[in-house]
Amino acid sequence: MQPYSFKAQQNISSQHCNPSLSLSQKKKKKLIAEEKIDCMENHHSRYYLTFLLPVLALVVVVLNVSNAQPLVPALFIFGDSVVDVGNNNQLHTIVKANFPPYGRDFKNHRSTGRFCNGKLASDFTAENLGFTSYPPPYLNLRVKGNNILNGANFASAASGYYDFTAKLWDAIPLSQQLEHYKECQNILVEVAGQSNASSTISGAIHLVSAGNSDFIQNYYINPLLNKVYTADQFSEILMQHYANFIQACFPHISTLQHVKQNLYALGARRIGVTTLPPMGCVPAAITLFGSDSNVCVARLNTDARNFNTKLNSTSESLLRNLPGLKLVILDIYQPLYELVTKPSENGFFEARKACCGTGLVETAILCNKDSIGTCANASEYVFWDGFHPSESANKVLADDLIAAGISLIS
Ligand SMILES: *[C@@H]1O[C@H](CO)[C@@H](O)[C@H](O)[C@H]1NC(C)=O
Ligand SMILES: *[C@@H]1O[C@H](CO)[C@@H](O)[C@H](O)[C@H]1NC(C)=O
Ligand SMILES: *[C@@H]1O[C@H](CO)[C@@H](O)[C@H](O)[C@H]1NC(C)=O
Repeated sequence: MQPYSFKAQQNISSQHCNPSLSLSQKKKKKLIAEEKIDCMENHHSRYYLTFLLPVLALVVVVLNVSNAQPLVPALFIFGDSVVDVGNNNQLHTIVKANFPPYGRDFKNHRSTGRFCNGKLASDFTAENLGFTSYPPPYLNLRVKGNNILNGANFASAASGYYDFTAKLWDAIPLSQQLEHYKECQNILVEVAGQSNASSTISGAIHLVSAGNSDFIQNYYINPLLNKVYTADQFSEILMQHYANFIQACFPHISTLQHVKQNLYALGARRIGVTTLPPMGCVPAAITLFGSDSNVCVARLNTDARNFNTKLNSTSESLLRNLPGLKLVILDIYQPLYELVTKPSENGFFEARKACCGTGLVETAILCNKDSIGTCANASEYVFWDGFHPSESANKVLADDLIAAGISLIS
């Protein structure tokens, strides 16, 4: 195991991170003072700016995107199977979904590698932002040219904040996803020129979805972790990696010194990070960890909520220390919990069992065209396979993300 030191309380505001911060304290104070005056003088116009702009943006999002420009220049996506659109197809891993019945409700009934019968929440998000195509899986691009002008997807199923999770499953660690992003940016510069590339990157939304596999596909099944760390301690480790992913600033942690890239240094200024879902409510988790009960596993949900709380506070301190950054946490815990606990009120009829196979455990290779019991109509199921929501549940999640994500585009 890696020798982590929990006592070294991570101070994100450490001056290692950002020496320019302390230098500009005076300037900052002046700015704050100016802002106060400005605020008093323009109270009303500010009020409208703060509250009307998001509303207008929302109207634009919902009503008027089909023939307009997208609301942001590009969408770049990082993370795990919640957002992987086919990068794992190219890898020697068992964590794949590029065969039927995956994708049976997708365009042309194509199994793309998405862990879903149809669209992912991030696909709906791309549509809501006004894009006419989805960010392509970076590894699948035959020609890495014009098709990345509007973004790319670097996500890899079974990846997580903890690089070792991805390594266990031969997936692409987040650190490697950043290397791919760097490479992608170089291509963008070649295709569009330096200044267009820079404005594309700073204006783009960067969507991050990770942490799920760190728990489900690593911590809970890996005695090297769960006998050594409590779930809370493991969450702390994940937070260090998360903060490093946004901006590497923990030089005193030797094990993380290999971290070379981070989103902020690569120019990302608009970042949305999804929370953990109610991990204890996914069908396979109930089967595997629920000790013969048919209800959500309370322990796993507690771990998820605890992680989400830390995610919020870590993000808040990143925000305090990284000038120009817009960073929002996109909550999928509550909306998914609502669907699971009150399916019929939300137009669903099955939440315990997934559509694919028996619906109790199957995912990846175990959910295939010969699986017995696969449902006829997935739109009534909250879950498509043992771990992943159906397209119709993803639609509900994506609709909920609009409100939270508004501040990223305004
Ligand atoms: C780069 O930006 C300029 C000015 O906005 C524009 O005229 C040009 O077409 C852009 N180039 C590419 C390749 O997108
Ligand atoms: C953290 O939670 C608070 C309270 O819900 C919320 O207002 C804030 O926006 C959250 N922070 C981030 C970075 O999303
Ligand atoms: C599937 O179920 C939904 C919701 O009940 C319904 O609207 C739809 O028509 C059904 N589709 C098929 C092919 O039966």
